[in-house]
Parts: sequence; structure tokens; C-alpha cells
Amino acid sequence: MSTVVFLGGGRITSAMLAGLRLSRTNDRLLVHDRNPAKLCRLMKSYGVAIEPNLQRAVAEADLLIVAVRPDSVRELLQALGKVKRPLVAISLAAGVPLQKLKAAFGVPVRWSRAMPSPACRSGRGLTALTFSREVLPRDRKRVWEFFSRFGQALEIPERKFDAFTVVFSPSHGFHALATLSEVAERMGLDRNTALLASAHALADSISAWREDKQSLPSMLEEAATPGGIAAATTTGMDAAGYRRAVLRGVMDGLRRARANAR
Ligand SMILES: NC(=O)c1ccc[n+]([C@@H]2O[C@H](COP(=O)([O-])OP(=O)(O)OC[C@H]3O[C@@H](n4cnc5c(N)ncnc54)[C@H](OP(=O)(O)O)[C@@H]3O)[C@@H](O)[C@H]2O)c1
Repeated sequence: MSTVVFLGGGRITSAMLAGLRLSRTNDRLLVHDRNPAKLCRLMKSYGVAIEPNLQRAVAEADLLIVAVRPDSVRELLQALGKVKRPLVAISLAAGVPLQKLKAAFGVPVRWSRAMPSPACRSGRGLTALTFSREVLPRDRKRVWEFFSRFGQALEIPERKFDAFTVVFSPSHGFHALATLSEVAERMGLDRNTALLASAHALADSISAWREDKQSLPSMLEEAATPGGIAAATTTGMDAAGYRRAVLRGVMDGLRRARANAR
């Protein structure tokens, strides 16, 4: 049995622990966080081991997952100090490049980056992975296996990580659901019906597209009869700047991710 140590016991760690529990992993899971109350909650909710002492936590790691926010990474790694044994470490910190992570420790720590989705909570995750050259094939396999436990994993070059991070977030789905259902309420639907109709529009259509494997244009054509109501609605959205709004949001997200690299 190997021990996976999480540094940071916040939102994404909690989602990953839930996904790992669903997958009935054999790994021993241990969490370190600076907030004892968070550690207690995670222990109660997921039955994980906890360790409030950073050095002791890291000493137990076969796989180390850095799950603090990007602006806390430097402070955490400084507090950790020198690591003297070979260690496979994975950073989840958005925008923080491998080069910066490697500079903190030098050779004994072999770094990867992962970008997991909070949807891993239900086993429907999607995780992008990227590895530094030093990561051995057997360790890459181990990292792949770990993140595949709660959904799909894929490897992409590090230069594409920020774009992936901005685009893959389930926040887009929630944001679209909140926006469409708010408008539906303004059009006179009660809240429950507005949410039901909007969730169907967004989620069931995309599930059908995934299952049918038809092309997106052909499914769009099937759903929006030329001259009909759906066509008038999407045309109106486009004319009002739908694509421009999405592009603007994505560019803002990218700028935010790039600021984390500094
Ligand atoms: N949330 C997501 O959906 C998601 C998805 C993919 C990747 N990520 C990445 O995962 C990382 C964590 O995100 P999150 O949303 O889980 O953040 P979060 O909820 O703020 O969790 C981070 C936890 O780490 C603790 N922490 C910070 N510095 C520490 C230190 N020096 N020693 C010990 N504990 C420390 C924080 O404590 P305090 O509350 O006291 O600061 C907090 O409990 C980020 O880098 C983010 O980019 C997040």
C-alpha cells in the first residue's frame, strides 16, 4: 500500500478524497493543512489520516500532492525546506510552472502538474497532466493511475495548461445554468421549472452529443429548425455578442493564470 499525501485540505482536496472514496482506492490517504478544524472535518468525512506537522506529513509520502492556492506555494515550499530523498510530487496550483517548482527543490523532487476538476467528487472528473523530464516512466504510470481513479485523465504539453485550465472548468456549466435559469424566471417560469428546463438544455443535450457521436453542427441543426424558435434564440444571442463575451471571459482567465507564474 502506498501513501498519498495532500498538502492543503481545501476544496479540491475534498473533491478528490470523495472521488477516491467512491473508487475504493487501496492507497493510504493523508492530509496536511494549517487549519486543524479542516483536518478534523476531512478525517470525519472521508476517514483519511491527518498530520498537522508539515515535515512529518511529507516524510510519509510515496506520492505528494501540493494542493494549496498558487500564492501559497512559495511559502509552503519554503516551510518544507530541503527534501533529501527522491520524491514524486504533483502540483495542482493553477499557472505555477514546473520550472518554478523545480527551482524550489532541485533534483530529489520529480515534479508533475495536474489540473483536476471538482467534478471528480462524483467520479466524473477530467484531469490534465504534464510531466517534467525527470519523472520516470513507472512514476508517470503511477500518476496516471491515481488521477484516472476519479475520471478521465489526459496528458498535454505544459504550454497548453493555462488554456485548458480556463476552458475545462465546470464553473462554465454552473454559470450558464445560473444565467439561463435566471432569464427563464424573468420570462415567467417558477424557479424549479426554470432550473429543470435550463439543466435539460445544457446537460442532456451534451450527454446526447457525447453518446450519439454525431457532429456538433449536425446536432445543432437538428435542434434548431431554420426559421424556428431555437434558431431565432441562438441568432439573437450571437448578435448580442455571445462569442465576444465568452472570448473576453477566457482571455481574462488566461491573464489571471499567467499572473500566477510570476
Ligand atoms: N478548486 C478547484 O476546483 C481546483 C481545481 C484544480 C486545481 N485547483 C488548484 O488547487 C489548489 C487548491 O485550490 P482549492 O480551491 O482547494 O484552495 P483552498 O480551498 O483555499 O484550499 C487550500 C488549503 O490549503 C491551506 N494552506 C494554504 N497554505 C498553507 C500552508 N502554507 N500550509 C498548510 N496549509 C496551507 C489553506 O488554508 P487557509 O484557508 O488558511 O489559506 C486551505 O485550507 C490551487 O492551487 C488551485 O489552483 C483547484
